[in-house]
This record gives sequence, C-alpha cells and structure tokens, in this order.
Amino acid sequence: MRNLVVVGMQWGDEGKGKVVDFLAEHFDVVARFQGGSNAGHTVIDGNRIFKFRIMPTGAVRGKKVVIGNGVVLDPFVLEEEIQSLESAGITIDLLISERAHIITPYHIQIDSLQEKMKSDMKVGTTKRGIGPTYSDKVSRIGIRVCDILSNESSQWEQLSEASKLRIGNLYSSQIDIPVTEIFNRLRDVLLKLRDYVGDTGEFLLGAIHTGKRILFEGAQGALLDIDHGTYPYVTSSNCVSSAAATGSGISFKHLDAVLGIAKAYTTRVGQGPFPTEIQDTMAEHLLKTGKEYGTITGRARRCGWLDLVALRYAARINGTEFLALTKADVLCDIDPVQVCVAYELDGEELCSIPANTSVLDSVNPVYEEMPGWHSIQSDEYENLPGTLREYISTIEKLVDSKVVIVSVGPDRNDTIIVPGSHSDMLELNDNNRDD
Ligand code: GDP
Ligand code: IMO
Ligand code: MG
Repeated sequence: MRNLVVVGMQWGDEGKGKVVDFLAEHFDVVARFQGGSNAGHTVIDGNRIFKFRIMPTGAVRGKKVVIGNGVVLDPFVLEEEIQSLESAGITIDLLISERAHIITPYHIQIDSLQEKMKSDMKVGTTKRGIGPTYSDKVSRIGIRVCDILSNESSQWEQLSEASKLRIGNLYSSQIDIPVTEIFNRLRDVLLKLRDYVGDTGEFLLGAIHTGKRILFEGAQGALLDIDHGTYPYVTSSNCVSSAAATGSGISFKHLDAVLGIAKAYTTRVGQGPFPTEIQDTMAEHLLKTGKEYGTITGRARRCGWLDLVALRYAARINGTEFLALTKADVLCDIDPVQVCVAYELDGEELCSIPANTSVLDSVNPVYEEMPGWHSIQSDEYENLPGTLREYISTIEKLVDSKVVIVSVGPDRNDTIIVPGSHSDMLELNDNNRDD
C-alpha cells in the first residue's frame, strides 16, 4: 500500500500532525488537500515545537510538500510559516497548486461579520475566512493563485465588488482595507511564492509513476465535514478521505489505504452537538491533562468520553481500515473509563449519527464501563497494560478497523506501532521498500 490518506475521525485535533510527522519518514511527499489556516497541526520533535496552519507537516523532515487545489490558501500565513521553518534551519521543498483559491482579507472580515450576525446560531468558526472563501469558489467569483499571478483583473474586480456590497449592504459595515491595497499586497506576497507554484496533479501523478510514496494529510475531522458532519456546525470543506483525490488533482485509484486518527476520548471546539460531552470534574481533568486548548485560537476544547457510534460512522464514510489511537496516556489513572456504544432516543437505540442536529442534540449516550490503566511505561505494544489493550480491542470490534498505531505522548518518539500483518500492510518498515 503505497499512498496513504490520513484523516481525522472526530471533530478535529485528534493528533493528525503528530502522526503524520511520525509516518512521514516512510514517504516521499506529504500533501494537504482541503481546509486552510483553520487547521492547527502540532509536531513535537525533542525540544522543537511546530504548529502548522497551512504547511504540510512533512516539511519538518525536509520532505517534498504539496498544497493541493482543494486547499484555500492564506498566502500571508504561508509566508510566515516558510519564514519560521527557514529560521529553524529547514530547507523547504514546496509545490502550491495554481488552482488553489485565495483567502483574502475580505473573506476574513466577512467570516467575523457572519458569525456576529448569526448570534446564537453562530458556528464558532476560527475566523480565518474559510467559509466565505469556499462560498465564493462555489459561486464562481473566487480568485485563485494563477489569477493573481496573471493579473486577472476581471476576476478580481468581480470578487471585490461582490465583497464590498456584502460587507456594506448585508452587514452595514465597511471594508477594513482599500481594494487596491489588498490586491497589491496579495500580488506582492504571491510573487514571492511564485517559484513554488505549479500543477500539483501532474506532479503527484509523475511521482506515483516513479514509485514515490505519497502521504495525504487531512485537516479537521469527519464530523466537521460539510456533507457528512454535524451540519450546520461544520467547516466548509470535505474532510473525508475521498477528498484527497479531488483536492490534489489525482484519481481516487491512487489512494491505496486510509488511516483514521482517533483520540482515546473526544473533544470539540466551537458550537454544535456533542453527545458524549461531560461537564464535571472529569472534563476539567481531560482539559488539563490533555492540554486541550486550541492550537491556533487558544480556545478551551469541550471534552467527553470516546464515542464509538461517531467513530463507526467516521470509519464508514472514510472507508477506514486502519486506526491510530492517540492520547492514550491522558486517560491514565481514570478507572473506570466510559465508552459510548450506542445512542438512546425515546426508548429506541440509534447506532449511527442522525442527520438532524436537533435529534443528535437530544440523544442519550449508552455507556459501557471499562477498567482503566494507571501507567504506560513501555514502548512495546505487548507490554502495554492489559486494560488498555482491551480498550483497543473494543474499539477495533465496534469500529471494524485495526489499530496500527498507539500514541502515548506528544513527542514523535512516544509512538508505538502495533506489530502484525496490518501494520506490515502499511509498509512502515523501510525493508519493504522496493525503490
Ligand atoms: P491535529 O489538529 O489533529 O494535528 O491535533 P492538534 O495538534 O491540534 O492537537 C493535538 C494535541 O495533542 C497537540 O498539542 C499534540 O502535541 C498533542 N498530542 C498528540 N498526540 C498525543 C499523545 O498521544 N499524548 C499526548 N499527551 N498529547 C498528544
Ligand atoms: P485541525 O486540522 C478543530 C471547527 C471550528 C468551528 C468549525 C468551523 O487542527 O483538526 P471554520 O473556521 O473551519 O469555518 O470553523 O470547525 N474547526 C476545527 N476544530 N480542529 C480543526 O482543525 C478545525 N478547523 C475548523 O472550531 O467549530
Ligand atoms: Mg488541530
């Protein structure tokens, strides 16, 4: 299985950055395919800490990194991340899709105004302009990397006229920055990035044909997916595995396997239903022990027990056959632990996520109690506490996927590969490489 798609299985922040960084050693290219600077992916390598919003995590290991057409790109954020990597002495080998849509200061302003107008119905967005940029892309008034580099003025005029009208008429506000200044700033920053711009689909296909391995790095998580998530409390892109093809410009036929990243409990930032949310001292414990504060926004994450109904649903829509379980260390010393195995509503049992948000808001989680574990001292799977292995087996059984990686701390080294045929299938051993 050469090319692997890594996706979040919950509401984001599952530890995708950490796992992608761990896996990147075995791959030649790491590609982002959706989302934008709403993401916050943390990589900890000894005493070096990186928090990426847009840069694919593989950059830390000096891998070729790709920002695909499905990403919405804030070029100012990317420029900052390039500078911070360079000042850490890392050489960047980057390709940005010429087709990627640009997040402009208009989009960021509209994101905030929209949230304010929605009041009690607000989504709790990251205010990075994600929704408005994807809306303009679908409305065919967006502006892409290639449009700015080729001075495509008609597309720019259309976008700025529409944005001014929306900001003025709909939100009775004024644009923060004059139109020409925005365009000049965007053009200047894109001219600096110009050497990185190209056709990502063509590049990736060429890489695949020469035997290179591609790791697709998802952002957000299945339950934030615009189609399959807890709509309207979702992000504005498809975060499921199939988006790796459309968002990078290759066929789905080149996606060989899907690895879902799941936290050993559940968190969510922003508004929206969360059946297994807890609000007692246990939630406080998870928040503090798991350091559950937004990577980018610093917001405290809502915390709750592992929701296997949601995880099973995420596995179905992603076609996940492999899982990485993260933050198992955070549950140490909690005994017993609870896992949600079904939802109950009006005396009936639900075994999947209902489409209607108000229904999901009303379900009662059905919990099973499991014995906890008290310390994780080994880096060998066989020597992990039996109760943790039992927890893993329950997940595997109810989600019908194999756990191949267990993460027991934030550092790259706090990672255990579960030995056996399933991790062998992912070819995480260099001896398996034939190039
Ligand atoms: P992402 O958005 O999915 O990449 O996840 P984030 O980086 O936003 O949040 C995950 C947080 O948990 C980061 O602070 C990671 O350093 C940390 N983390 C990842 N894996 C583990 C783990 O196994 N144990 C602990 N304690 N922390 C982890
Ligand atoms: P990573 O990749 C967690 C959430 C926001 C909000 C909703 C919509 O780090 O896992 P948006 O700004 O996208 O319009 O916000 O989605 N959200 C995330 N939550 N992790 C993320 O990314 C997220 N990206 C967006 O909090 O509820
Ligand atoms: Mg994050």
